[in-house]
Amino acid sequence: MSGRRDIIQQVHECGIAIAILVGIVIGCVCTILLPNDFFNSGPSKVGLASCGSEFAVISEKNAELRKQVRELTEKVRLAEQITEIKAGSFGTVTGLRTNPTVVPDKSVNPRLAKLLEKVAVNKEIIVVLANSNVKPMLEVQITSVKRVGIQNYLIVALDDSIEGVCKSNEVAYYKRDPDEAVDEAGKSENGAIVSGLKFLVLRDFLQLGYGVILSDVDVVFLQNPFNHLYRDSDVECMSDGHDNDTAYGFNELFDDPSMTRSRIVYTNRIWVFNSGFFYLRPTLPSIELLDRVRDTLYKSGGWDQAIFNEHLFYPSHPGYIGLDASKRVMDIYEFMNSRVLFKTVRKNEELKKLKPVIIHMNYHGDKLERMQAVMDFYVNGKEDALDSFPDGTAR
Ligand SMILES: *[C@@H]1O[C@H](CO)[C@@H](O)[C@H](O)[C@H]1NC(C)=O
Repeated sequence: MSGRRDIIQQVHECGIAIAILVGIVIGCVCTILLPNDFFNSGPSKVGLASCGSEFAVISEKNAELRKQVRELTEKVRLAEQITEIKAGSFGTVTGLRTNPTVVPDKSVNPRLAKLLEKVAVNKEIIVVLANSNVKPMLEVQITSVKRVGIQNYLIVALDDSIEGVCKSNEVAYYKRDPDEAVDEAGKSENGAIVSGLKFLVLRDFLQLGYGVILSDVDVVFLQNPFNHLYRDSDVECMSDGHDNDTAYGFNELFDDPSMTRSRIVYTNRIWVFNSGFFYLRPTLPSIELLDRVRDTLYKSGGWDQAIFNEHLFYPSHPGYIGLDASKRVMDIYEFMNSRVLFKTVRKNEELKKLKPVIIHMNYHGDKLERMQAVMDFYVNGKEDALDSFPDGTAR
């Protein structure tokens, strides 16, 4: 509801802004056509040539104004869509889970905007942050990405060594400006800090109007994930869950015998979304999510994945306004975590025949070895490649 109020508020402001802009545009037109004095009816003595450069500046200003008017009009249009609602009959009504995308703003990062024009496909991109500590895993991932022919894959190279890997593999990469914020994170061996950096880096991509898959480096690609997205939610994310209940939600009963006839309380449970592989539509709730996670992370520290989930799932309550982004859990057999693979799938003849889209080694410490084993099993036809590993990582 607060979103709707905000939009109505914006519409009010838009109305005033449009009125002012129209005034300015009329003023500009008058200045161009009648460079002397509009109200002084004497013949014009100033030649057009002398105001050539002035004209260039004004037409540039006009272009900017037109752009702003276009953006405001778009906001008004969206606001109208939201405010003029009539509910249909039973079974025909659905809420708004597919939020409008933001108007791309190239000015936030012109260099990245240019790069994305070349690398993105259908305004979508896979983004991977990497520094030299994860180089061997990154190389396995690159091999897997190339094998399935994914074009829109971009590495955010956090150091020179990774830039070298990208060049030698002919993979598109982006290096942040040295003066961009919290760059010391790029040098850190602390995975948590690099993990937090992604919420900062992703903002520009969304603000530029791109849908983004964020992938950690310990992910093997076996199919093109863009062919397996629903794109109906702000956040589409893989799960840490290992079956339908844990991944998609279930009721856990809380039992308090002292309450006699009302001893059972239902509690909704879901295993966390895995913040190492998710798709964000370029919408306001997605950008707000990034900002919130970053803000919490830098103010009070903690595990970025836990913070990510708290912002996604905690509803508004006294003293807190919830995010209310729309969300979707990815299919656990398509976007598979390494627990599902090693505890279930590799031991089940039917599930072994499935072809996952990606596999994320999130649950295991010996990530590189398990990534290579996944390549051997799913790509190189080595049927026993997964057998020698224990369910969990020993150390
Ligand atoms: C899990 O959910 C999928 C999709 O809804 C369904 O096809 C499958 O039968 C379910 N599996 C179990 C064990 O309930």
